[in-house]
Amino acid sequence: MAKLTLAVLISGRGTNLQALIDACADEAYPAEIGIVISNQADAEGLERARSAGIRTLVIDHSEFENREAFDNAVSSALDTHEVQLVCLAGFMRLLTRGFVDRWRDRIINIHPSLLPAFKGLHVHERVIESGVRITGCTVHFIRAEMDEGPIIAQGAVPVCAEDTPDSLAARVLEVEHRLYPLAVRLIAEGKARVAGEIVPYLDLGEAGGPLINPNG
Ligand code: GAR
Repeated sequence: MAKLTLAVLISGRGTNLQALIDACADEAYPAEIGIVISNQADAEGLERARSAGIRTLVIDHSEFENREAFDNAVSSALDTHEVQLVCLAGFMRLLTRGFVDRWRDRIINIHPSLLPAFKGLHVHERVIESGVRITGCTVHFIRAEMDEGPIIAQGAVPVCAEDTPDSLAARVLEVEHRLYPLAVRLIAEGKARVAGEIVPYLDLGEAGGPLINPNG
């Protein structure tokens, strides 16, 4: 079966990109990365892509007059590379409604909280301050409103008494690296589709695990 062609959009470190690169290295994985796009020329993730022999492109937002012009340039690049699914992986730019509508149900994001709780930035600081006992990460289809959209998969971790934002971020990140390749696989296999404004419960032949749902 033909593999789903991905674009991964990054702004920095790129450890989630790395998790996708590693997953795609498996012959049996149903997706491949066609292009990695960064809005930052010095993003560490670009080097990860180059080392894996993946095409990269820098589209520097500061060179565009406005958000629409930047988003149009990104959209053209996605068309050129015949991208079927756009994966935001630490891509720290808000996208315009026009762009999001154009890629509706073909663009996903990973966010380091159990959405709809703790949208936005400085998530782990806010999680600790709030006193919640469980947090995690979410992969979701994106909508024009920030960190909104049908949820594909979530992973949970405990918040420990001695946690700092950094220690908590590291615990969540480990789960992110398992969750993102899982979510992409479910989409590529046609198992995660938007219906109404949710992704209906996925019939994987077994119940979701306690920490990652679905457990894939
Ligand atoms: C990840 O924790 C991701 O969930 C978060 O940025 C980090 C990127 O790390 N994304 C957001 O906060 C988006 N709202 P990475 O560059 O090493 O993948």
